[in-house]
Amino acid sequence: MRMVDLILKKRAGGAHTPEEIRFLVDGFVQGDVKDYQMSAWMMAVCFNGMTAAETGELTRAMWHSGEVVDLSDLPGVKLDKHSTGGVGDTTTLVIAPLVAACGGTVAKMSGRGLGHTGGTIDKLEAIPGVNIAQPIEDFKRIVRQTGLCVTGQTGDLVPADKLMYALRDVTGTVQSIPLIASSIMSKKLAAGTDAIVLDVKVGSGAFMQAVEEARELAQTMVQIGEHVGRKTVAILTDMNQPLGCAVGNALEVREAVQMLRGEIPEGDPLYKVCMLLATNMLLLGGVAHTQAVAEALLNRALYDGAGLKKLREMLVALGAQENCLENIDALCTVRRQVPVTLGRAGFVGGMQAEAIGQAAQMLGAGRAKKTDAIDPAVGLVMHKRQGDYVLKDEPVATLYVNDEARLEEAMQALKGAIRLESEQPAPAPLVYDVVRAAQER
Ligand code: URA
Ligand code: CA
Repeated sequence: MRMVDLILKKRAGGAHTPEEIRFLVDGFVQGDVKDYQMSAWMMAVCFNGMTAAETGELTRAMWHSGEVVDLSDLPGVKLDKHSTGGVGDTTTLVIAPLVAACGGTVAKMSGRGLGHTGGTIDKLEAIPGVNIAQPIEDFKRIVRQTGLCVTGQTGDLVPADKLMYALRDVTGTVQSIPLIASSIMSKKLAAGTDAIVLDVKVGSGAFMQAVEEARELAQTMVQIGEHVGRKTVAILTDMNQPLGCAVGNALEVREAVQMLRGEIPEGDPLYKVCMLLATNMLLLGGVAHTQAVAEALLNRALYDGAGLKKLREMLVALGAQENCLENIDALCTVRRQVPVTLGRAGFVGGMQAEAIGQAAQMLGAGRAKKTDAIDPAVGLVMHKRQGDYVLKDEPVATLYVNDEARLEEAMQALKGAIRLESEQPAPAPLVYDVVRAAQER
């Protein structure tokens, strides 16, 4: 087999055999297939796509390209939840403990934030003492002891994705549904979980700006799950505005803790999305058999404090102090809190979530490059959502600032991210669709 023939085949719109897919992935990881060949092939995929079977085989080849975590000796259905990346999205820190408190087993490897989106690992590291670099054996021990563990990716999982993503980034081949779907799913599968709930974000702060595009990505990932025999559900949720109010690492931990204390109202978008994702995890895990039972279990774990207790147990297992959740305000202490006003009145007609994430990043809450340092305390808190009325001098947000170098720029980015209108707009949608495998519908 020759790589050039596979490139020609894909350029002509052909479909590869499983052997061909394995040849090109394995060859690339071993160095026999060159960067320029892989780039040319991925560009052909961008134009001509892949069949469901090809995408499934690509995922399988990537998944097995490096170390694979084996969780089969842990009891129960091991559950994972993954978001395609959002702003002000602290759902993992809420859902993982709630699901564990209901009797589910959550084993999740998370990532860091990049660009305007946050990452759960950075949020966990905002808590003093937490060590997210746990060897696989310790990760499994914590899951066994507490029913949940969320850590950084350990081991050399999916080297094919690291190499392919680095090329995609510089060859204009990021935006391809089969390439995105296989990239995400190969990492989930290598982490060893049995069932996966995907939160596919749609909107100005997301990878996928249009609902149709996001639905296609969701369907592709669910089909991959079917192809390899892992239960997968994908939920399309809105990312035209931040999900929660907080954007920044300690600030988002504080919001997650408020949610787990039952302080966030049931009508709140963060509450609704957390409940929907967690309900689907309990259903996939067989912990509950109906949505009503799942919701009842989750609400009990929320209001009796069992979820909060689970979060604390996990944090302590990762190295935090017993009282780590008692004074979260101290972690959010900054030199200056700066209110942002717009100088005119009106209804919030829409927001640019990406620009809001970028404003937080400029203050030091996120990274432009993977190697940038972040400040866990800084970021911003939104006071308004789409549809709310704002008075002329009423703050729409508060910036949490330590380093003022880019304060003015962050302030302008935030102001520019909010569109005011004279008429009250229709309520912003929150959930667009739930995509299940054919046999689960
Ligand atoms: N996230 C991933 O992990 N991979 C992609 O290709 C895009 C988003
Ligand atoms: Ca985008």
